[in-house]
Amino acid sequence: MSDLHDICALNDIPDNQAKGLSLDLESGMFEFFVIRKNGNVYGYINRCPHTGVNLDWTPDQFLNNTGDLIQCSTHGAQFRIKDGCCIAGPCAGDHLRAVDVVSENGRIKLIL
Ligand code: FES
Repeated sequence: MSDLHDICALNDIPDNQAKGLSLDLESGMFEFFVIRKNGNVYGYINRCPHTGVNLDWTPDQFLNNTGDLIQCSTHGAQFRIKDGCCIAGPCAGDHLRAVDVVSENGRIKLIL
């Protein structure tokens, strides 16, 4: 059975931007980020498949300059927003781990 966690307001994330979030679970801190893009929301665990570090060096900086790719701040790997696939950088072909997020009644919810 899955749990629905109310995370934040949809408007807390401007369109074409991302926000780092965390949930304090019994199993430990669950760190992830949500991207809002063209009316959709996408969620991924905040861990680069290259070395396992967080992707953002500066809070909420998950996207490249043009806002069309996720970019790791450590060595610059770039990932597609829609599926988390790394298309350039030291872990090309690897994937970010997706988390289920939904936008519902102006709120963003995480399904675990
Ligand atoms: S740690 Fe992300 S590209 Fe190296």
